[in-house]
Amino acid sequence: MPQARMPRRKVTVIGAGNVGATVAQRVVETGLADVVLLDIVPGLPQGKALDLAEAAPILGYDVGVIGTNDYADTADSTMIVVTSGLARQPGMSRDDLLMKNAQIVSDVVGQAARHSPNAVIVVVTNPLDAMCHVALKASGFPHRRVVGMAGVLDAARFRTFMAMELGVSPANTCAFVLGGHGDTMVPVPRYATVGGIPLPQLMSQDTIERLVQRTRDGGAEIVSLLKSGSAYYAPGAATAEMIDAILEDRHKILPCSAYLQGEYGVQGLFVGVPVRLSRAGVEEVVEVELTDDERREFGRSAAAVKELVEKLGTYA
Ligand code: NAI
Ligand code: 2OP
Repeated sequence: MPQARMPRRKVTVIGAGNVGATVAQRVVETGLADVVLLDIVPGLPQGKALDLAEAAPILGYDVGVIGTNDYADTADSTMIVVTSGLARQPGMSRDDLLMKNAQIVSDVVGQAARHSPNAVIVVVTNPLDAMCHVALKASGFPHRRVVGMAGVLDAARFRTFMAMELGVSPANTCAFVLGGHGDTMVPVPRYATVGGIPLPQLMSQDTIERLVQRTRDGGAEIVSLLKSGSAYYAPGAATAEMIDAILEDRHKILPCSAYLQGEYGVQGLFVGVPVRLSRAGVEEVVEVELTDDERREFGRSAAAVKELVEKLGTYA
C-alpha cells in the first residue's frame, strides 16, 4: 500500500555564485531538503540547478533542485540562505561595498521573507555581522530566526591549522571563535581541544599565537592564492552544517553571529558567539567564562561591528 509522502523541506539559496552553488550542492547531496537556487542573473541559477539535477542519478539523491529568478518559486521555504552580494572591486572602498551589499541584502531578504514568513534566515554575505542587521530589519522576523555564518568557518580554519601543526585528524579537533567576522575576530585557544586535551597543553604559546593569526588572516590567505574571488568550499560546508543543525533540530552548539541582548555585556548587536541551533533558529546564546584579556578582545571586536552597523543608516 503506497504511503502518503511528507511534504519535503525546502531551502532557498539566494545567490548562485561560488558560495551559493556550493551550499546547494551540499544540501542536495546530503538529501536534507529540496533546494531553490535564486539569482538576479537570468540563466545562471537555472543552469547550475540543472547541472546539480543531472548529477542525481550518479550520486543517488532524489531531492528536487530548481533554479529561478522569481521569488514566487521560493514560497514556503523552511530556510533562506543569503549569499547574494558583490565582492570588493578595484576603486571601491569598504564603505561602498557595505552600502552596496546592504542594498542587495535588504532587497532579497524583503522579497524572500514575504514568500516564506516562517523561515529561518542564514546570512552569509559580507560584511557578515552588519548584513545580519540588514536581514533582521528587512525580514521583520524575530531575531532568533536570523543568524549569520562565520564562526563555524573561522573555527574550522583554526581547527585545520591545529591539525596540520600536530599531524592529527582534523576531526579530532574542537574550537570556537568569538567576535565579528573580520580582522578583530577572537579565536579562544583556552577552549580549543584535540582529543579532549586543551590546546595549551599540546603546543607552545608562540605556536598558538601563530595559528591564531593565520586564522584571522584565513579569508585573505585564500583570496591571495585564488587572485580573484574568495573561499567557497569551507564556507559552503560551514553553512551546510548550520542548515543541517536547524532542519534536523539538532540543538547543536556552534559559533554563529547572533543578536545579543545583554549577553557578553553586548546590547542590540549581531556578533559571533556560541549558540544552540535548533528548528527555532537560535534557541540560546551560550555564555562562557572569559579572562579579562579575552573579554577586552571581544569588546574590541564588537565595537568594530558596531561602527559598521552605525554606517548602515536606515538599512539597520
Ligand atoms: P559570487 O560573486 O560568486 O556570487 C554572488 C552572487 O550573488 C552572484 O551570482 C550574483 O549574481 C548574485 N547577486 C548579486 N546581486 C543579487 C541580487 N540582487 N539578487 C540575487 N542575486 C544577486 O560571490 P561568492 O564567492 O559566492 O560570495 C558571496 C558572498 O558571501 C560575498 O559577500 C562574500 O564576501 C561572502 N562570503 C562570506 C563568508 C562568511 O564567512 N560569512 C565566507 C565566504 C564568502
Ligand atoms: C572568508 O572568510 C571572504 O569572508 C570570507 O573567506
